[in-house]
Formats: sequence, C-alpha cells, structure tokens
Amino acid sequence: MKKIIIAIDGYSSSGKSTMARDLARRIGYVYVDSGAMYRAVTLYALRNGMTSAGNVDKEVLVRALPDISVSFMAAGEDGVQHTLLNGEDVEKEIRSMEVSGMVSPVAVIPEVRHHLVALQRKFGEERGIVMDGRDIGTTVFPDAEMKVFVDATPEVRAERRVKELLEKGEEVDYDSVLKNIRERDYIDTHREESPLTKASDAVVLDNDNMTIPQQMDWLLDLYRERVK
Ligand code: DC
Repeated sequence: MKKIIIAIDGYSSSGKSTMARDLARRIGYVYVDSGAMYRAVTLYALRNGMTSAGNVDKEVLVRALPDISVSFMAAGEDGVQHTLLNGEDVEKEIRSMEVSGMVSPVAVIPEVRHHLVALQRKFGEERGIVMDGRDIGTTVFPDAEMKVFVDATPEVRAERRVKELLEKGEEVDYDSVLKNIRERDYIDTHREESPLTKASDAVVLDNDNMTIPQQMDWLLDLYRERVK
C-alpha cells in the first residue's frame, strides 16, 4: 500500500497529539509531535537563562540554535514516545506550565521555526508519517496527502488539559489553564511566520462532542480513502 504523509493541525489541547499518536500506531506509521520540539527549545532557553519576565532573549537563543538538537525515542512499556533535548529525556519537563507559558513567544521566532521545520521535513523524507502541530499542512508538508484540522472550544480544551495535568500530579486550576489556552490561541493565530490556519485542502474535525473511538473511526475512514 502506498505510504502517505498525514498532517494534523489544530489549537492547543484539542486532543490532536493523542489522536495522531493512536492513528500512527494503528496504521504502523511514525509519529512526530512537532509541538514537543518547540517545547524542547523553550526548555533549553529557560534552563540557560535566556528568558526574563515572560520575554525571550531572541538573539542569544538564535545563536544557540546550532547547539540544540531535538529527537525522539520510544520509551516505557506502552512504547509512548519521549522527547530528547541534546540526548536527554525531557518528556516530563516540557509539559510543565512553566514551559507552556513561554513556548508561544519562542515559537514566533522565525529562525527557531526554520531550524525545526528543516528537522521535521527530514522526518518525513520516507513518508509513512503522522505529524501534528500548527503549520504542518500549510508549511511543513503542503503536499501531504491527508490533512486534518482539529477544532474544539477553549472551555472543552481547558477541561481536558486540567485533567491531564492533575493525572500527572501537577497542581493547576481551571482559570489559569483557560487563560493560557486563550493566550496561546491568540499568539498562534496572529504570528507573522506560518500562523495557525486551516489549509484550504484540510478536512475539519470538530471533536467537542466526540469520543476518542469515534475520532479514530473518522480518521481511519479518511485514511483508507486517501490511500486507495
Ligand atoms: O501542541 P503543543 O501545545 O504541545 O505546542 C506547543 C506550542 O508550540 C504551541 O503553543 C504552538 C507551538 N507550535 C507551533 O508553533 N508550531 C507547531 N507546528 C507546533 C507547535
């Protein structure tokens, strides 16, 4: 069967990473979480004193980019992928509120985007890949055979995120998570360099009222149609 590229874009906490990962597992494709790559660069900036009062020292971070490598490895019994920053497993740290609060300003820096987009395209050279993010169908793989744009209301997304963080043992409250989601939506859709927008040939998946198995059926139907 021919191998294709599947691009899944959408707002933060819309559940796209879970669905992209599950889809990849079901069809035997490689899964790449591009948001994790922006989070890893953000963690690097935080750890190396390149941020203060919600701002990033752009020049210093851009100069450090050649020293920042992001990769993935399968880890844990369920084979869930972990993100590596210069070889170190940083999967837990990159999901913290501290990183979430700083990632959008890092992701607007054009040089950061170019650095990561180049890496993302390398991952897709062999096709047979599911990648999720904000600009996968528009910028990273405009020729992807299957493009999905995931939509859900900020309130539903905040509820899901709170649940996820509490399960990981992080102290959070709903209002600050909702505020963070709204801020990220605004920055993601208004930045100059490859803003979050639906590709003209993407299919919208509104998952406010869908269960995870329903979403999987929807995705598998679309996938079968595209590989025909
Ligand atoms: O999907 P996520 O919430 O883990 O993504 C983290 C941040 O990275 C998000 O605020 C926007 C940014 N991002 C991006 O700009 N482009 C991508 N392809 C993926 C994520």
